[in-house]
Order: sequence, then C-alpha cells, then structure tokens
Amino acid sequence: MKKKFNVLLVGFGYWGPILARNIQSNLHFNIHSICDSNSYNLSKAKNIYPNSICYSSFKESLENSKIDIVIISTPTNTHYKFTKMALLKKKHVLCEKPLSLKLKEVKFLISLSKKNKKFLFVDYPFIYSESVSFIKNIIAKKKLGKALIYESIREKAPYRKDTNVIWDLGIHDFSIIQYLTNLTPKKFNITLSRTKKNYKSDFATLNLFYKNDFSAFIKLNWASPIKIRLIKIYFEKGLLIYNENEDIYKISIYEKTSKGFKHQLPLVYFNETLQLFINYIGNTLLNNNLKDFNFNFSLNLTKTISKITKNE
Ligand SMILES: NC(=O)c1ccc[n+]([C@@H]2O[C@H](COP(=O)([O-])OP(=O)(O)OC[C@H]3O[C@@H](n4cnc5c(N)ncnc54)[C@H](O)[C@@H]3O)[C@@H](O)[C@H]2O)c1
Repeated sequence: MKKKFNVLLVGFGYWGPILARNIQSNLHFNIHSICDSNSYNLSKAKNIYPNSICYSSFKESLENSKIDIVIISTPTNTHYKFTKMALLKKKHVLCEKPLSLKLKEVKFLISLSKKNKKFLFVDYPFIYSESVSFIKNIIAKKKLGKALIYESIREKAPYRKDTNVIWDLGIHDFSIIQYLTNLTPKKFNITLSRTKKNYKSDFATLNLFYKNDFSAFIKLNWASPIKIRLIKIYFEKGLLIYNENEDIYKISIYEKTSKGFKHQLPLVYFNETLQLFINYIGNTLLNNNLKDFNFNFSLNLTKTISKITKNE
C-alpha cells in the first residue's frame, strides 16, 4: 500500500472538523494528531478520531517526527507564527485563509518555504471548485463574449475579532477574480461599517475597476441571518449566475438572443470543493515538484487586499 501523509491538524473549532472530515476520507492522508488549546474542542476531536494523538500545545505537537504536513485552522492572528514554526521544523503547511494580513509576513513565509523546500498551501477553496473552473472555461473560450461586470453578495458568517469582513469573506471573491482573470484592480472605492462593538468591520461594499473595461461590485456582511453566496457575471452576450447554495444547478446562464434570453442550466459536477483541494494537495506532495508550484498566488492576493483595506 502507498504511504499516507501524516497530518497534524491545529484548531478544531468551526472549520477544523470540516477539514478533518475531508482529510480523513482522502486516500492520501491520515490524521495523525490534532491540537487545540480548548479542552472541550480537543475532547470532541478525540471522540471522532480516537486513533489520533491529541495535544493542547502546538509547540509540543510539532515535536512528533512522523508528521508530514501541518494543517492550521486556528484564528488568523496565529497563522503567521504557527506557519513559521511548522516550516522551520521542515513540515509542509496548509494554512487557512488569510495567511497573514501583512504583506511582509507573507513574503517571509514564502521565502522560508522555498528555502526549506516545503510546500505552503493556503485554503482558497473556490479556485478548486468545479463551478469556478466551468466559469473560467466560459471566459477563456469567450462563449458569452467579454466579461464586463462581476457582482457578488456574500452574507452570514461567524463574527471575528482579528480580521474584518473583507479579509474573511471578501478574500473568496478576490481569489476567484484573480484566478479567472489574472487582473488586479487599478482603482477602487470601499465602505466598511460595524454593527457590533469589539469586533472588526462586519459590513462592506467594494467597487473595483480593472483594465479591459472589467469591474466588480462586492457586498459582504456577517450580520445577516440568511446565508447568501451569489455571484453574477455580466458578459457582452449574456449573464451567468453562480449560486453556491444551490444543491444541483449551481450555475445558470441567460444567453442573449434576438428574441430575449435563452436560459440554460448546465450540469456541472459538484464534488465537494474541499475534497478536490485536499486531493490536489496529496498529488502535489506525491509529485514533489516545487519548481512548478505557484507561490505567487497568495502574495498577489495579499498585495491586492492589503492595498484596498489599508490594513484596517
Ligand atoms: N476556507 C474557508 O472557506 C473557511 C471557512 C471558515 C473558516 N475559515 C478559516 O479557518 C480558521 C478558523 O476559523 P474557525 O471559524 O474554525 O474559528 P474557531 O474560533 O471556531 O476555531 C478556532 C479553533 O482554534 C483553537 N485555537 C485558538 N488558538 C489556539 C492555539 N494557540 N493553539 C491551539 N488551538 C488554538 C480554538 O480553541 C478553536 O477550537 C480562520 O482562519 C478562518 O478564516 C476558512
């Protein structure tokens, strides 16, 4: 049997268990150990993964020489420190988004991963989604003509104290736009507001202007009781709607005709995006081809968002 990569998962709060389920069901990986400083969350982890070794201290958990990759799903303000510690121990790392709010820290982590010949993955799940790949193909083949306007509404998510809603939810739109177009905004207007004391800004609107007459309008908030993950892309010859919350037909196309619009519901396969991403990581570790690895994706994304938010 092929060797499985041993994972140390750090952080078993909201997102950690979702990562754990996808890691454990993937043929490349074994959850070797789990670390969480919260004893209740750690006991839940032990209950679901009884064969894993449990730690309350990250420093201690890193000492285990059997670990191949450290997966970090703790709050953002720990990401830089934990990623650096893991890379210094010569482990591969998958860190949750955002890797850091500071460009110089992201640059440092990338240089450290290159120096130690270790992969540094960041979880921008949408760029591995079959729906987003489908849209990329529509754009590349100009099936609906030129893409003109990207509109996105992303509502409802846990409140956070260490990142605002742009770094937390907006990062998904920035990752999708960067992946689809390879463009960075030339001009922008943003608004940020706060509905709860002691938390970062939870409501944002963004107008972004790119070259080639392409622009984006993004509305984000944590406060809404209704979960919305809706993207509309206006093209010269029609409109594409991507509703992540739909179970089957996530993509819907309205193509302009001489008589009005022709509605199409293409069948896009919908494997769980996180499973596709974890599988990509497994294959990348197996092939071990660092030369072709795109370290710049996180760097460019951090450059764009830190310029726009001015590190709010
Ligand atoms: N990629 C996505 O779509 C997506 C979705 C949700 C969350 N996230 C990201 O996942 C990360 C975690 O978010 P969450 O909602 O699960 O947060 P959370 O607060 O629910 O969970 C964080 C966990 O980390 C533990 N922790 C905190 N400090 C620690 C330390 N020093 N050592 C060990 N454990 C520690 C906490 O006890 C908690 O169990 C964030 O960076 C968030 O942005 C990503």
